[in-house]
Amino acid sequence: MKLMICGKGGSGKSTIAALLAKTSVETGNSVLVVDTDESNFGLHRQLGLELPPDFINYFGGKNVVLEKIMAAAPDYESVSFFDKDWQIADIPSEYYSEKNGIKLIAIGKIHDVGEGCACTMGVLAKEFIGKLKLNSDELVLVDTEAGIEHFGRAVEQDVDAILMVIDPSYESMKLAEKVLELSSTLEKPVYYILNKVDENNEQFMRESISNQEMIIATIPTKASLSVTGLKGDEITADGCEIESMNGLLMEISDNS
Ligand SMILES: Nc1ncnc2c1ncn2[C@@H]1O[C@H](COP(=O)(O)OP(=O)(O)OP(=O)(O)O)[C@@H](O)[C@H]1O
Ligand SMILES: [Mg+2]
Repeated sequence: MKLMICGKGGSGKSTIAALLAKTSVETGNSVLVVDTDESNFGLHRQLGLELPPDFINYFGGKNVVLEKIMAAAPDYESVSFFDKDWQIADIPSEYYSEKNGIKLIAIGKIHDVGEGCACTMGVLAKEFIGKLKLNSDELVLVDTEAGIEHFGRAVEQDVDAILMVIDPSYESMKLAEKVLELSSTLEKPVYYILNKVDENNEQFMRESISNQEMIIATIPTKASLSVTGLKGDEITADGCEIESMNGLLMEISDNS
C-alpha cells in the first residue's frame, strides 16, 4: 500500500509519518518512507535514521534531470527516468538509510542559493512512486512538503490513499476542503487525522469536515511529541499512538 501524507506546514505530517512507520514495522511490514520535502531536514531524525544522499543524484543530479525535462518540452509527460518498474529492493543501497525494517529515501533537498526550483524533484517523485511495485507486506509512506504544490504536479497519482493531517487552525480546515476537491479529481480517497486536539478544539474541527466518516484518527497535543520535535530526537510511539496508528492502517487497508 502507498500512502501520501499531506497537510499544512507544521500540522504534524512528518511526526505522523514516523509514527506510522514505527507502528507498521511492529506488525511485520517492511516500510519505505519517501521524503519528498525539499526544504525540511527533520524527518530522518524523527525516524532515528541518517539523512540519505539525494536520490536525484542517482539520475545525474538536478541539472541533468532538468535538462531532460526541458528537452521534452512541451510533452513533459513523456519524460522518463526509469526504464522499468522497480521494487524497494532495487533502490541502490547508497541512497537509503535503514534501521529496524524502516528504509528512508530523500528525493532531493535544496542545499544552495540559486540552485533552481524543486520541480525536478517533483517530477522524479511522481514517476518513482508510480514505478514502484510492492509486495503485500510492504508499505510506502510519502511525506510531503507543506501545502498542495505536489497536487499541482499530480505526485499523488499512483498512491492508494491520501492522509490529510489537520491541526487546529483556520488554514488547515480550508486546506482540508481543497484537498478533498483535488483528491476527488484524482479519484483518491482522502482520510483525515486530527492532530494536536484538545477538549476545546476537537468538536469544532470535526464539525468543519464535510465527510466526517473519513476522520480515522485523533491525536492529542502531547508534551512528549512536542519536546521530541523541538530537540530533533527520534520518536518513540506510546501504546495509545500505536493503537491509533494501527487502527488507521487497518481501516485504510480494508477499504483499498
Ligand atoms: N500531537 C502533537 N503534540 C505535540 N506536538 C506535536 C504533535 N504533533 C506534532 N507536534 C510537533 O509539531 C511540530 C511540527 O510537526 P511536524 O514537523 O511533524 O510537522 P510537519 O507537518 O511535518 O511540518 P512541515 O510542514 O514543516 O514539514 C514538531 O515540533 C512536532 O514535534
Ligand atoms: Mg514535515
